[in-house]
Amino acid sequence: MSLSDRITETCSFLNERIDQRIDIAVVLGTGLSGFSAELNVQQEIPYASIPNFPVSTVSGHDGKLIIGEMEGVSVLAMAGRFHYYEGYSMDQVVYPIRVMHQLGIKKVMLSNASGGVNPNFSVGDIMLIKDHINLFPSNPLIGPNNDEWGPRFPDMSEPYAYRLLDAMRSASVTAGIAIQEGVYAGVSGPCFETPAEYKYLRVIGADAVGMSTVPECIAARHMDMEVVALSVITDLGIEGKIEKVSHEEVKEAAAKAEPNVAKLVRAFMKIAGKDV
Ligand code: HPA
Repeated sequence: MSLSDRITETCSFLNERIDQRIDIAVVLGTGLSGFSAELNVQQEIPYASIPNFPVSTVSGHDGKLIIGEMEGVSVLAMAGRFHYYEGYSMDQVVYPIRVMHQLGIKKVMLSNASGGVNPNFSVGDIMLIKDHINLFPSNPLIGPNNDEWGPRFPDMSEPYAYRLLDAMRSASVTAGIAIQEGVYAGVSGPCFETPAEYKYLRVIGADAVGMSTVPECIAARHMDMEVVALSVITDLGIEGKIEKVSHEEVKEAAAKAEPNVAKLVRAFMKIAGKDV
């Protein structure tokens, strides 16, 4: 079966189960799955039950779709995403984004944990991603282009929607949660970076580095979905401040920041969740 036939099959399964129009999709990153506690959950659909859906393999990622409501906004949340380092192909990594598009969802919020390389950052900071650098050894759009999804050579001059960035800035003010802003470098992982690599990332213009989000943003922009993304700084790749880092520490730091992320996202939903 072709990729687009598989997506169609997944969507008919989901369409039978989801009756409301979804305003926004939210991809919950490492340690942020507890965010679902903030949703008035209407339905949960385990990935394993969805035809053609990949299954997540990393601890800290539950692997289910959660359909719910927050501040009058209907949300489809993905608890658990598919990482390139797990061995998934780029088509599998971005499969859920293409499904969301075919379900008619036009906005997606991505979240992740990252290492800060901007010397003004601290562990626990929330960074609004305003741009990214793709350092993955691949790109989800490599291969024959599906013209129904988008152009062969998509524009990437506004990877993260200006108006959603503005809405997030306003949400930061109303929620009283300070945020940083910066450029996210997406790398394959699964190694964390060497000190020289962190330095290199800073030199080329990154503020934070992580192992997700960039392929999903590219696939979403290809299909003209609007993207907004938040990154929780869970460790520092800053000369003089570099310490040993483990996945446990990343999860713990992300979980600590989770109440602030939840407040921010709630305020964002009030401002921009429902429009368009
Ligand atoms: N590097 C890459 N990915 C990450 C990091 C990091 O330091 N922290 C959390 N995800």
